[in-house]
Amino acid sequence: MSYCGSCHKENGQGVKNIFPSLTNSKVVSGRKNNLLRKVIHGAQVEGQSTEKFDTRMSPFGFLTDEELAAILTYIRKEFGNGAGAISVAEIQKEKSVNQP
Ligand code: HEC
Repeated sequence: MSYCGSCHKENGQGVKNIFPSLTNSKVVSGRKNNLLRKVIHGAQVEGQSTEKFDTRMSPFGFLTDEELAAILTYIRKEFGNGAGAISVAEIQKEKSVNQP
């Protein structure tokens, strides 16, 4: 709610044509690298979204590894995504290797 809810909303559904829905999302439940790059570095995600968005999301690499792991585990588990957790180690790896 503090960091992501202002745009993607409490129910994860976002705002049509402005902020993408994180519900039943292939981006959220799909390849971890893709999701991590997006949220940590603000990179474009591989084209799995059904809608196009004019705005880009700013990077969230300033959050602690623990915060990022908790947030991403939450959005992967909730909102009909039913995907596995993201570990602190996976966050650290992404922060260290992958620049956009
Ligand atoms: C200021 C508004 C804003 C905030 C805050 C925000 N996002 Fe986003 N987010 C966007 C926009 C706009 C896009 C789509 C544009 C893009 O792909 O760069 C997006 C895209 C995404 C996507 C890819 C969805 C898709 O289907 O392509 C994910 C995942 C995501 N955000 C997760 C998060 C998480 C997790 C947080 C909190 C750490 C967060 N966002 C905070 C605006 C925001």
